[in-house]
Amino acid sequence: MTLTSNFDDDSLRLDGSLLSSHVDPKQVDSMQADVDAVIEKIHSRSGAGSDYLGWLDPAEMLDDRELVRIRETAKRLREETDCLVVIGIGGSYLGSRACFEALTPPGSNPDRLRYAGTNMSPRYQTDLLSSLESQNFAINVISKSGTTTEPGIAFRILRNELEGRIGADDASKRIVATTDRRKGALRELADSRGWETFIVPDDVGGRYSVLTPVGLFPLAYAGIDIDALVGGATECSIACRGGNTERNPARLYAMLRHLLYKSGLSMELLTSFEPRLGQLIEWWKQLYGESEGKDGTGLFPAGTVYSRDLHSLGQWVQEGARILFETFIGIDNGEPSLTVPKSTDEKSADGLDYLEGMELAAINRLAQEATRVAHFDGGCPNMGLYIPKLDAYHLGVLIYFFEYACAISGYLNGINPFNQPGVEVYKKKMFALLGKPGFEDDGKALRERLGLE
Ligand code: PA5
Repeated sequence: MTLTSNFDDDSLRLDGSLLSSHVDPKQVDSMQADVDAVIEKIHSRSGAGSDYLGWLDPAEMLDDRELVRIRETAKRLREETDCLVVIGIGGSYLGSRACFEALTPPGSNPDRLRYAGTNMSPRYQTDLLSSLESQNFAINVISKSGTTTEPGIAFRILRNELEGRIGADDASKRIVATTDRRKGALRELADSRGWETFIVPDDVGGRYSVLTPVGLFPLAYAGIDIDALVGGATECSIACRGGNTERNPARLYAMLRHLLYKSGLSMELLTSFEPRLGQLIEWWKQLYGESEGKDGTGLFPAGTVYSRDLHSLGQWVQEGARILFETFIGIDNGEPSLTVPKSTDEKSADGLDYLEGMELAAINRLAQEATRVAHFDGGCPNMGLYIPKLDAYHLGVLIYFFEYACAISGYLNGINPFNQPGVEVYKKKMFALLGKPGFEDDGKALRERLGLE
């Protein structure tokens, strides 16, 4: 077994050759039975949290009639408005943002989707409202529970603004709620006001929901090819079932990160030399952080974007504490053609003539490979995940690849990858301090503890 793997259709390949300081291929061989058992647990839906495996089959997860409504509503609102304000947090936000930023075609309006609900900063909200003054906007409020405070507040503010401008009846035609099929405050509100609604499937948790209406509606509004996105994920879901590790990079990725963790490394840094993958890295941080950080275990998922961060965290990665490994997402082809021009100086002084005429994509790729070797030589093992090009289809592949590997990784660590009990802790303290009904006693005790009485 070598530490490399690629799907049969070459839609993604993993190069783990620069992990050799920490992982012996024999260790991978001896893990095969454990991984088979975990994969059996996933597909037989017998592991912890198996109520949340609806994402396993991306095509099954989508109702055809709902897809038609998604396309029709997106088209209508796109024609009537300048932008869609997407309100949500965590899994109700990160996926669509990641895809939007990765796939926004060159020259198209980067403000087609605006985001709110991830913070309670008055400055952020005020700036957003000011920037919407000259815009006709629609709202997509997304919350599976329907009770999350941050998006709830943002929605109240933006709905107020919209209703104030065009009246409650017309505003109702511009508000789309994505929420639980039956329950929750947002479901009740949407039903009572007659807003268009889309469903977050019962068996899909927030961080696995990008390929449900949670991600697909805003992406359809933005003009992204959602069929190709789901198509890539569906093909990947079939490829991920393969038991041959050399032909199943998701399986190998989960195994390698487990072995790296067991070798004493505590952090994985996901990185790319492509800035438009910055938000995908944020999405990945949630997927792995919320899935794995439990019971005192789990790799800490961090992210960087290179070359930018080579001039900040790069020093740390090269020579700091040897606690991390890196995973690089590389794009093989399909980037715009742009070459280094001839110098306009008679005698060029910038020392770059040797690059004249060279494609930027090639320079970027070589910088990535040089960095991989430099970091490996400095004691930071790393692997590369390569996709042939960055389009909707291959982004779908990448998304499913990470989701599937995350489920394997979580079970290998012996935790439930599909819950997030830790997230509730800050919420309860916040409710107590804010005086939410039912939290009065806790609020009093907390105010005393913080000296706020
Ligand atoms: O992955 C998750 O389940 C969470 O991150 C949720 O997506 C996040 O907390 C938002 O929850 P909700 O959609 O219920 O408002």
